[in-house]
Amino acid sequence: MKFNKNHILGIDIGGTGIKGAIVDVRKGILVTEKMKIKTPAPASVDNICKAVKEMVVAFKYNGVIGCGFPSVIKNGIALTAANIDHSWINTPVDKSIEKYTKLKTFVANDADLAGLAEVKFGYKGKKSGTILFLTLGTGIGSALFLNGVLIPNTEFGHMKFKDSIVEKYASNAIRERENLDWATWGSRLNEVLEHMALLVDPKVILLGGGVSKDFESYAPFLNPKLKVEASQLKNSAGIIGAALFASMG
Ligand code: BGC
Repeated sequence: MKFNKNHILGIDIGGTGIKGAIVDVRKGILVTEKMKIKTPAPASVDNICKAVKEMVVAFKYNGVIGCGFPSVIKNGIALTAANIDHSWINTPVDKSIEKYTKLKTFVANDADLAGLAEVKFGYKGKKSGTILFLTLGTGIGSALFLNGVLIPNTEFGHMKFKDSIVEKYASNAIRERENLDWATWGSRLNEVLEHMALLVDPKVILLGGGVSKDFESYAPFLNPKLKVEASQLKNSAGIIGAALFASMG
């Protein structure tokens, strides 16, 4: 396929999988199939950069790259590493990927980028007020918006909760690992959402991550007062947001 200047490679690096596709950043849609690579073990700097390079080669891509990364990111540098190798801490993620791909790379927190895409292209309501976006995957990522403006690196998944932290209590990985049925997991998620709502008073909570496709199964266990909706972009939000971020330079 011939790419034009609105076509950017977006990559969503997660604790379990790395997903990428070419995105039309004006329309907020994927213009190629998604490519998925299992997150290498260990999820070290070299191994992840090699996986990103593999995608660049597979898409025969030559342009700027956008990457969502599951960590607090400041100026392209990873400051935490909850579900990836600890060697990432204090590593410039953008520069490391550039070294392997020779392509200019823009990196930010994965949930922040998925949220950006969702608020711009997915969510149909007004952007005014406070919107809380969460990704439910290996961890729980968060993105908080006030009047459409992102407040980056919120990390609500790491809030202390019930002798643990939020993402160790209610992530999708925990649902799978503990083999929780929808009612049990949905009730755990509801407790977490009620607590977060108390703290930031969002007008709506948008849920992303792979499990957003099963929303109907756990929605009955969520308090209707919370106004929870499934992400419209589903599991592509992270890829679209990553490409969008790169297009903003
Ligand atoms: C990380 C976040 C990330 C989330 C989802 C958490 O463990 O700390 O930075 O957004 O997982 O990947």
